[in-house]
Amino acid sequence: MKVFVNKRIPEIGIKLLEQEGLEVVFPKNEVLSHEEWLSYCRNADAFLSIGNDFKYNREFFEACPNVKAIALYSVGFDHVDIKEATHRHVHIGNTPDVLSRATSDVAFLLMQSVARRASYNFQKVKEGKWEGFDPLHALGQELYGKTLGILGLGRIGFEMAKKSQKAFDMEIIYHNRHRNEEAEKELGAAYVSFEELIKRSDVLSIHANFTPEQKDLFNSSVFEKMKSNAIFINTARGGFQNEKDLYEALASKQIWGAGLDVTNPEPMSEKNPLLELSSVCVLPHIGSATIEARNGMARLAAENIIAFSRGEKMPHCANP
Ligand code: DGY
Repeated sequence: MKVFVNKRIPEIGIKLLEQEGLEVVFPKNEVLSHEEWLSYCRNADAFLSIGNDFKYNREFFEACPNVKAIALYSVGFDHVDIKEATHRHVHIGNTPDVLSRATSDVAFLLMQSVARRASYNFQKVKEGKWEGFDPLHALGQELYGKTLGILGLGRIGFEMAKKSQKAFDMEIIYHNRHRNEEAEKELGAAYVSFEELIKRSDVLSIHANFTPEQKDLFNSSVFEKMKSNAIFINTARGGFQNEKDLYEALASKQIWGAGLDVTNPEPMSEKNPLLELSSVCVLPHIGSATIEARNGMARLAAENIIAFSRGEKMPHCANP
């Protein structure tokens, strides 16, 4: 069986595929045009897919009828039309759990960075504008005892809530499709409506799966209901935020600040006005970028392909 892998991944994943006797095909060039990408996929039986630039939709499945398995090198699968894949019996695998800690670490890092204006202050030092002690300039806010609102309390949200509670004794409220009984029991997390979540949160952190219906969920009508000291954190998908409305909410001080590891589109343009604001910290989608998480993702993605090649169900399957 031929497995197309569109970028280099940690060796552990490739070794597992090769030990299983699978033929691994890498592209000559890692930056592929749409046509090149389709042509690699057409000649493969399975695809280990890195990045979410390419969409797996009806057009793709029609163009590559041989591909019967796609192991995503990500936990998110918003770039896949799961309904269409399932209808065509294409197995879709993802990489949950192994990146939950790493991704929640980035949410936690952004929360503190924005609360203490770390990126703004760092920028000042870099520009030679460190002007000495000033009792009133660039004051941050403390997080102790504040309310952390989590949208999407799954594995990553749980890790973020746990850390924030331990470090800052934060009260946890959440909104989700389903109640999370473990979080309610272990962290005393309280389930609230979306309206209550946005009104009560001092820090609002998104950890939900992104679906097209949630595009621009965080827009001016939501930002205007948030607290003036609220910190908006997004490590999930950039599509959740309307960036123009976010800019206006921040520039007019409707909310305190924003920490983004995801933007819409990615990469964010260096001309994006959000980057001019001292209340914003943007990272280039590094949630899972640790050695441990990326090794884990390589292992899970390979295990998904191997299971498929043996005619078994993928251990981490995104199909219903
Ligand atoms: C994920 O695993 O979904 C990360 O966001 C990388 O795309």
